[in-house]
Amino acid sequence: MDHTRQYAESLDTQDPIGHFRSRFHIPDSDLVYFDGNSLGRLPLATRERLRDAVDREWGHDLIRGWDTWIDLARSVGDLLASGVLHVGPGEVVLSDSTSVNVYKLAAAALDARPGRHVIVTDDDNFPTDRYLLEGLAAARGLELRLVATDIDAGLDPARVAAALDDDVALVCLSHVAYRSGAIADMVAITTAAHRVGALTLWDLCHSAGAVRVPLRESGADLAVGCTYKYLNAGPGAPAFLYVREDLQAGLRQPIWGWFGRRDQFAMAPGYDPAPSIDRFLVGTPPVLGGYAAQEGARLVAEAGIDALAEKGARLTDYAIALASEWLGDRLALASPRDSAVRGSHVTFHSPEAWQLCQALKAANVIPDFRTPDRLRIGLAPLYTRFVDVHEGMSRLRSIVESGSHLSFAATLGRVT
Ligand SMILES: Cc1ncc(COP(=O)(O)O)c(C=O)c1O
Repeated sequence: MDHTRQYAESLDTQDPIGHFRSRFHIPDSDLVYFDGNSLGRLPLATRERLRDAVDREWGHDLIRGWDTWIDLARSVGDLLASGVLHVGPGEVVLSDSTSVNVYKLAAAALDARPGRHVIVTDDDNFPTDRYLLEGLAAARGLELRLVATDIDAGLDPARVAAALDDDVALVCLSHVAYRSGAIADMVAITTAAHRVGALTLWDLCHSAGAVRVPLRESGADLAVGCTYKYLNAGPGAPAFLYVREDLQAGLRQPIWGWFGRRDQFAMAPGYDPAPSIDRFLVGTPPVLGGYAAQEGARLVAEAGIDALAEKGARLTDYAIALASEWLGDRLALASPRDSAVRGSHVTFHSPEAWQLCQALKAANVIPDFRTPDRLRIGLAPLYTRFVDVHEGMSRLRSIVESGSHLSFAATLGRVT
């Protein structure tokens, strides 16, 4: 491969979705942002939309705004369904946080499998998912069965299958692993779970807006995900949940709020869940965050998931090739090498990963660190250019070659 900056520039010139970068607010042209998989950049349309919503809708319209805000969770859900997740209308809704949605859907699934005593997840699933399942298992006297997972290679479907039996109620896993970016085989795992009569709940936080999610092809039952990563909806924006249409009537989630009730404004006595995906809602939705999610989802839908996934694969392949050429075994790959089973971020292993992260930030490159000693590089395909990868990896090369990172403290900070 050609390792010159000119080559990176030529890749950008030929990039069919390269023009989407101009749709984002990018105030610091020197900054190399390798963290769009944690918090996406601000779309220009979102900034305008929020300004208008604050001034006109909240500022002027006041409570009259609810005539339109009331349908926002559903309309953004439908947009995510058609443009991002490729499922049907009425199967996705914007709601709460990912953590709360894991709780609601996992509890609903457990209630739908009475008499079964086991929840299956893996020991490398994202912490909030593990903790929530641990809490549900403790509250209900169930077993939480942890499948051992290689933190770099990702989930092994055979190991998941080996953990399944007819006492399993729920299998809850991440589609794209948060640390390595490894993509789980959703089709094989869902098929195996269904064979023993269990339901599946997938965490799509690192998938939505980055890779094609085979919800339909796999027959997956339930899913959750956030909008602040590849969907660029901003810090703390509301999450989404997916419930396959044929399951909705049979599932009840445990937080019985008025937004989940049939005929909400009848204010009637007793809880009677709405006959639609609305039954998975709880309370008043965050409207400003919802608008941001809507604008972010529009951009992703306009670019198209297949184009985004293809570019994400090429960007991560390129980062791996540069790391290997420039740094050799001083930086080991800690993600799958095959882009077909890797999301849009790539992770490297170094005992000095924390110090490398600090040195990169000082050099105006933002990656992130993940335990135990991993340098994670997120390459959000909507706005990351090949020259950004070239520049960021070249600054990393200078740091490693000079050893300048060793002057940074090795002790971890509060936020990694
Ligand atoms: C895979 C995954 N699941 C869940 C979460 C947590 O979501 P939240 O804190 O928004 O509830 C994150 C956050 O980064 C995540 O990466």
